[in-house]
Amino acid sequence: MDWGMKNRFSKIIRPADGRCLMLAVDHGYFLGPTERLEDPRKTVAPLLPYADSLMLTRGVLRNCVPAERDVPIVLRVSGGTSIVGEDLSKEAITTSIEEAIRLNASCLALSIFVGSKYEHQTLASLGKLVDEGEKFGIPVLAVTAVGKEMGRDARYLGLACRVAAELGAHIVKTYYCENFEQVVESCPVPLVVAGGKKLPEMDALKLAHDSVTHGAAGVDMGRNIWQSDYPVPMIKAVKAIVHDNADVKEAYSIFTREKAGKKEPQKVKAVARPADFD
Ligand code: 5RP
Repeated sequence: MDWGMKNRFSKIIRPADGRCLMLAVDHGYFLGPTERLEDPRKTVAPLLPYADSLMLTRGVLRNCVPAERDVPIVLRVSGGTSIVGEDLSKEAITTSIEEAIRLNASCLALSIFVGSKYEHQTLASLGKLVDEGEKFGIPVLAVTAVGKEMGRDARYLGLACRVAAELGAHIVKTYYCENFEQVVESCPVPLVVAGGKKLPEMDALKLAHDSVTHGAAGVDMGRNIWQSDYPVPMIKAVKAIVHDNADVKEAYSIFTREKAGKKEPQKVKAVARPADFD
């Protein structure tokens, strides 16, 4: 890795412990106004001090995150589909490398859909993006997106992660599964685990704990943080697992202690929304 690539990579996966807490707020790129991410400014601001990096699109970055804030950016550069469209796997690169550089991105993120109708298109885009990233010293995070019909087991996720790494991804985002160690062992680059749909806090903390204890470098977590009634206590608890090796019990007690210090849960807005995704 050259200096620039190494420097940017170290902003995402912290060299002190090889771990990462990436806060994902990119959901709107195909889901529109996701519950509790209707106004990303409000969702993101209180969480920023606790996130190692922020994963989002250029639109939310430009409009909802103050440029003065010193937070490393994982810029989602793939998209072009929506939850009501033809096929979610039909993604292309939607943001240029010049724009990513202008926005001072520390990492580029793109989804691949292994086993889907548009597998080839998304994998070819990954190869192209890695070439661009290498040219300018910007690492690429491959997001292994799983279609409804795909099994989320170690065999399938292992395949998707390995393909991503073979095509040059510097980091791969995937899901936790049974026998996760097999996915880790067969992927030569660091893995981060997505949180997925909102779970009870204890279960989400267990997911984060299982992920890092079975070899993930950290989490790329969204809904399980900001859809919690207590997002700041939740991110603090996840951070304790990722960076301080807290166990689930310790993390949950951080969550309950922090929660006790807050007056009211965050308010839910009653608006029509598209269906959630996995
Ligand atoms: C959407 C994404 C999300 O960033 C990713 O799924 C993490 O968010 P969550 O923890 O809510 O699943 O890549 O395509």
